[in-house]
Amino acid sequence: MRMYDLIRKKKCGGELSSEEIRYMINGFTDGSIPDYQMSAMTMAICFQGMNPRETVDLTLAMRDSGDVLDLSKIQGVKVDKHSTGGVGDKTSLALAPIVAALGVPVAKMSGRGLGHTGGTIDKLECFPGFTAELSEETFVHNVNTIGIAIAGQTANLAPADKKLYALRDVTATVDQMSLIASSIMSKKLAGGSNAIVLDVKTGNGAFMKELKDSVALAKEMVAIGTMAGKRMAAVITDMDQPLGSVVGNSLEVIEAIETLRGEGPSDFKEVVFALGAQMLVFAGKAAETAEAKSLMESAIADGSALSKFAEFVRAQGGDAAAVYDTSLLPVASQTLVVESPRDGYVHRILAEDVGIACMTLGGGRETKESKIDLSVGIRLRKKNADAVKRGEPLAVIYGNDAAKMEAARAKIAGAYEISDKPREKEAVIRQYIFPE
Ligand code: URA
Repeated sequence: MRMYDLIRKKKCGGELSSEEIRYMINGFTDGSIPDYQMSAMTMAICFQGMNPRETVDLTLAMRDSGDVLDLSKIQGVKVDKHSTGGVGDKTSLALAPIVAALGVPVAKMSGRGLGHTGGTIDKLECFPGFTAELSEETFVHNVNTIGIAIAGQTANLAPADKKLYALRDVTATVDQMSLIASSIMSKKLAGGSNAIVLDVKTGNGAFMKELKDSVALAKEMVAIGTMAGKRMAAVITDMDQPLGSVVGNSLEVIEAIETLRGEGPSDFKEVVFALGAQMLVFAGKAAETAEAKSLMESAIADGSALSKFAEFVRAQGGDAAAVYDTSLLPVASQTLVVESPRDGYVHRILAEDVGIACMTLGGGRETKESKIDLSVGIRLRKKNADAVKRGEPLAVIYGNDAAKMEAARAKIAGAYEISDKPREKEAVIRQYIFPE
C-alpha cells in the first residue's frame, strides 16, 4: 500500500477501506507517513468528505493508536464532557468542579487551543505551577481522593489524533465534520469513561457554522459513542457570539471563578447547567435535569464548587491562592477601548473574528511551536441585541504590545455589526441530541 495512492483516491472522491485507514493512521503515528502527505490527505478529506463507515474506522484506528485507559479503579459512573470548540468557551473550568462537588468523578482529558478557539489546558496553566501532565497513577489517585483530575492528552492517548490535531490546526483543515467527530471521539473512547456529554457549538464562531451541520456532527458522534457502548447525549449550543463576557486565557479563568461564586454571566451559566445536569443524570445523582440543576445551584451557593476547584488546582501543582484572589493571575496591564461608531443595536458579533483578534494579541498559536501569552484577551461590553450609543465601549482589549492591540482593535470593530432595528436575543441552548 502507498500513501500516495490513498491521497489520490480520496482526492478523486473515492472511499477508503478499513485497511487503508488503519495503514494511514499507523504509518502517520510511527512517522513513516510524513506530515506533508498527511496534510494533503486531510485537505482531500475537507474537499471530498468521508462517509459514516470511514469516519467510524478513522475514529477506531486513532483510538487504537495508543493506550485505552482503564478507569475501573475509579469508583462510580465516570462521565466525560467535551466541547467541539468555541470562542470564550471556558465551560469545563466551571462545570468540572460543580459536578465533582456533587459526587460525580471527573476524570477528564482536555486539549489546548485549536485554530481561533481556546483550550482548557492552556487556561489552567494560568495558575503558576499547574501541570496537566499526570501519570495514570496520579490521575486515578486524584479522582479517587478529590473527585477530579484534568490531564492533557498524554503522549500515548490517541497519539495519532494528537499529531493530526496539531497538523490540522496550522493547515486550515480543522472544520471538517468527519475529522472533528473522529478526533473528539477517538480521545473520548480512549479516555475510558462510561458516559459522554458533548457540547456541540453552532454559529459563526464554531467550526460548524450552520445548525444543520452541527446537528449532523452531534448525531454522528452520539452514534459512534453508542456503538462503542457509551451512554451518550449532545447539547447544541450557540456560538453566534462568544460565550460569556470575556475571551482570552486568564480572563476566562477569572470568569469561570466568578461563575463558581454565583456571579458569572447568564449565557455561560446556562451552558454549564445544561451540560452538568445531563452529567448528573447519567451518574445517577439526579432523576431528571430540573433536580440536577437545583443541586448545581446549591453547590455554588454553599461554596463547595469553588473550594473543589481550589482543591483540584492545588492537587495538580497550581497556586490555589489565585482561586480566591484572582489578581494573582496574569492579566495584561495595557487596555484599549473599542468604541461604537454609531447608535443602534448589536445585530451580531463575529465570534471567529474575536477569537482571531485574541490570537493576534498573542493568546493563540500561529504555528505548532508558538508560545502563547496567557495574559491577553478581550472583554465584551456589549453582546447581541444590546442597545448601544455612539462612542460607548463595545469591547476592551487587554494586551502587551501596542501594534498588536491596534490590529486587534480593527478586527473587533469589524466583528460588531450594529443595526438600527432592535433584535431578539437568541437562546443559547439550541437542541438536545440523544441516541436514535
Ligand atoms: N476538538 C477536538 O478535540 N478535535 C477537533 O477536531 C475539534 C475540536
